[in-house]
Amino acid sequence: MSLTTYDPAHDVILTGYRPTGKMHLGHWFGNLQNMLALQHRYPETYFFVADWHALTSDWADPSRLAGYTEDMVLDWCAAGMDPERSIIYRQSDIPATAELNTYFALVTPMSWLERVPTYKEQRENIKDKDLGNVGFFQYPMLQAADIAIMRATKVPVGEDQLPHLEISREIVRRFNYTYGEVEKNGKGEGEDLVRGPLVEPQALIAEAGARVPGLDGRKMSKSYGNAVFISDDEEALRKKAAACITDPARKLKTDPGDPDICPLHQIHRLIGEAGVLAEFDACCRNASCGCVAHKKRFADDLVAYLQPFREKREALAAVPGFAKEVLQAGAQRALPKAAQTIALCRDAMGISL
Ligand code: TRP
Repeated sequence: MSLTTYDPAHDVILTGYRPTGKMHLGHWFGNLQNMLALQHRYPETYFFVADWHALTSDWADPSRLAGYTEDMVLDWCAAGMDPERSIIYRQSDIPATAELNTYFALVTPMSWLERVPTYKEQRENIKDKDLGNVGFFQYPMLQAADIAIMRATKVPVGEDQLPHLEISREIVRRFNYTYGEVEKNGKGEGEDLVRGPLVEPQALIAEAGARVPGLDGRKMSKSYGNAVFISDDEEALRKKAAACITDPARKLKTDPGDPDICPLHQIHRLIGEAGVLAEFDACCRNASCGCVAHKKRFADDLVAYLQPFREKREALAAVPGFAKEVLQAGAQRALPKAAQTIALCRDAMGISL
């Protein structure tokens, strides 16, 4: 049996996102910039559109999925993700992941999936969708298959995804233990040495991406209607800038404000120049300028900040079939590795072709 072992000199980075629509500044600062940096830091990087995962909750209405998938690829590529360097693909183009999911279903106790905090939380909180389906229940197991099929060693995730990564490690470990070669630790202390076909992934916690408040001060989220989309046009950006909440205690221009609790300042700090920011910080605190003037400047800065991205995105969107081609080329590069992993698994399980 040929076995893969973990080679720290060759990290494989992989992460996926559910296509849920256009990206906003929360995604841009929260994880997209981090993903862009990773593609230059590591030799092998996989970024995929998790359309199957989107379907686990939106199975009843897949009508927006194709459009959202295209949006995601355009956003990624316009932001600087390089399809030559990184392997950009769509989850559903790698059927071997579903095969691995089937094998994982053999070794994964239902209780592990029942215990996942995001599962319990979402079953309790999301009432407008039927999440009683098996697909949603086994969401983290499919995620483990996404990771293991490319034998990824490091998975950049936010803290909310840590339980999913922990369960991925446990599933991989159990698979390797069940079907790999186990060298018992004779002394009864320490762990047995396990050599299996799959690689245990590690979480790669990003240097805490900025937490971006929305225009109303809550966390920026499409579902709150408080998001600035990175592809918004100038008119939309100016409207949103004008509607941004400021320090609620600052009722009059003559009241001093507190920039540290003001959403307008928080968002401006992410995109503005230091000198301009210092100026508005000072004049807010000493009540020598008003929020309306600040919003105007913020609008100008926001428009200028996003302009290169928007132009690039428009150019890419004008290329017929751009997203489709990126995904097809990515799948062609990802498929051989997926096939290799499945061959190793089948070999280990004694069901080789
Ligand atoms: N669960 C992730 C999310 O909700 C998406 C995802 C699916 C993922 N498969 C993955 C992330 C594999 C990292 C690795 O955004």
